Amino acid sequence: MKASLLPLLRDPESHAPLSLEISTQDGDEILEGVLRAPSGKTYRISNGIGRFVPDDEYVGNFSFEWTQHQTTQLDSAHAMRESEERFADSLPYPLTELAGKLVLDVGCGMGRFAEIVLKYGGSVVGIDLSFAVDAAWKNMGRHPQANFLQANVYSLPFAPESFDLIYSLGVLHHTPDPRAAFDQLPQLLKPGGTLMTTFYAAYNKAYVAASEFWRWVLRPVPQPWLYKLAHISIPLYYIWRLPKIGKVFSTLFPISLHPRPEWRVLDTFDWYSPRYQFYYTHPEVFRWYQEHKLQNIVVKGPGISLAGVRGQ
Ligand SMILES: C[S@@+](CC[C@H](N)C(=O)[O-])C[C@H]1O[C@@H](n2cnc3c(N)ncnc32)[C@H](O)[C@@H]1O
Repeated sequence: MKASLLPLLRDPESHAPLSLEISTQDGDEILEGVLRAPSGKTYRISNGIGRFVPDDEYVGNFSFEWTQHQTTQLDSAHAMRESEERFADSLPYPLTELAGKLVLDVGCGMGRFAEIVLKYGGSVVGIDLSFAVDAAWKNMGRHPQANFLQANVYSLPFAPESFDLIYSLGVLHHTPDPRAAFDQLPQLLKPGGTLMTTFYAAYNKAYVAASEFWRWVLRPVPQPWLYKLAHISIPLYYIWRLPKIGKVFSTLFPISLHPRPEWRVLDTFDWYSPRYQFYYTHPEVFRWYQEHKLQNIVVKGPGISLAGVRGQ
């Protein structure tokens, strides 16, 4: 992380500003150090990341997943625009308007969307509860406009009204109480700032039932074994894509049908490994935006993707 982030940071417990002690620095990037609250409480900085949690709590699966797949979904690593297109599908304004904006990526994973913000000239702070932040830092931590913190959405270390854009794509439905997680975010928006979230959709009942059944069956399987098992999606893809019969199979046992094998393995593991997984409809999440008095609420794709603006 960079010292320039300090004015935005607050002690998640007391909400007081923090002071910074640097042990190791490389250019602008603070590699090792300590953030100290007036109460004496400290948060370490290690490997370039401010650590506001002692460990990765219930998201060991995501630490594992993003360490194994640090670049699988990273556009720049594969000369592709898949993450960029997905981000643009959810964003309520053109990507070019990201220039100069201060953006918070909640549940950044290995940084596939943070990379898009940087590409279009924004500054990004990525937070994640898992050690995915270490993968994100390796991918883009030294970029002058990037900062990564290991933190929990339920106790974020930021001053109110800090960000022009806050997004959380495919994250809040993996927390124990998604509504309570959502409630943390609007207060961190500057007046006129935009919140954008994506959740799993509850509409396809057969899909949800099959997914949840298999997630329950596979729950006792240790993660490395589950990861090995997810490789079954590589050959099954060819059967699951057959007309008619493939549809039946993919309803009974959903696997990722992404054309790239490593992406299929990642997504299939991602679907069956989380401790928490919830599904929503558009009206439910729309109400959350309304209850926070967010304005200009728009419904976008994919899944349950909405965005809204904090009033001036
Ligand atoms: C499916 S991944 C999505 C990552 C990224 N947004 C993407 O789309 O590539 C969900 C992420 O949410 C993070 N997460 C889950 N609970 C969290 C919490 N309470 N606070 C912060 N991050 C959390 C996980 O560690 C994981 O990296």
